[in-house]
Amino acid sequence: MESNNEIICHCKNVTKAEIENAIKNGAKTLKDVQNMTSACTGNMCEELNPKGVCCSVDILPLLPPAEKKCCCCCG
Ligand code: FES
Repeated sequence: MESNNEIICHCKNVTKAEIENAIKNGAKTLKDVQNMTSACTGNMCEELNPKGVCCSVDILPLLPPAEKKCCCCCG
């Protein structure tokens, strides 16, 4: 079983469970998740995230489907 204690945001040490909790409590966008958990606000991703990228790539797939839609002109 996949652990929800898995760290998603390595800059701010935010777990998957914390992000899922924020979504359960009404977070619908990346901005909401940032405000509610401080995940994805660290700006040290290249150094701290083993993936070397911002954790938004791991947060976006957790958001409700409507929010995942591309927001560009073809979305
Ligand atoms: S890994 Fe989340 S802000 Fe850097």
